[in-house]
Amino acid sequence: MKNSFKKSLFAIGILFFVTACSVSDQVEDFSIRTYPDRVLFQPCEKIKNKDPNAKRILDQMELKLAETDRGVGLAAPQVGLSQRFVVINLGEGTEHKYRLINPEITWKSPEQSLSREGCLSIPGIDAYVPRHERVKVVYQNDNFEKKMLEACGFLAYCLQHEIDHLDGKLYIDYLSPKDKTLILKKYFKQTKRKNEK
Ligand code: CO
Repeated sequence: MKNSFKKSLFAIGILFFVTACSVSDQVEDFSIRTYPDRVLFQPCEKIKNKDPNAKRILDQMELKLAETDRGVGLAAPQVGLSQRFVVINLGEGTEHKYRLINPEITWKSPEQSLSREGCLSIPGIDAYVPRHERVKVVYQNDNFEKKMLEACGFLAYCLQHEIDHLDGKLYIDYLSPKDKTLILKKYFKQTKRKNEK
């Protein structure tokens, strides 16, 4: 009798453990991941056709982006998901909003300009980096229809910045090693100060 009681307790324990593990696998808190979180350096997985989670994830990412101070774009690794999703919101009105699944740059103009960039994952710093002035991007929309987007100027810079995130690349990677070291020093100093407060 005593033994079987122990056995059933053990079984319940295992059941709890398994349930807890599977729940924690599914939990996505969509909190912004900051440098040097490993997820930011990993190349992201392609989204499978008709992935039933796509709409929900894009909705959550849009909400998260709206909560930020002056953020214009967000890539899925920035909220801890190593998947090829990007949202962009350049301002009021839906015509300035983009929800991109599996975006890919298919053409870049030879002309480049310096773009002043910051990143929600490296808060508090910014720098000028070279970007192509115009790009063509192929992506899938919410219904997994193939779309093409031609962009120039700020939107083109944004697309390059966000699509880089999907390949584990950050804008500071375009800086010279010396400038990158300097800017990261500044960033870590600020982070330390913030944590001490
Ligand atoms: Co960024």
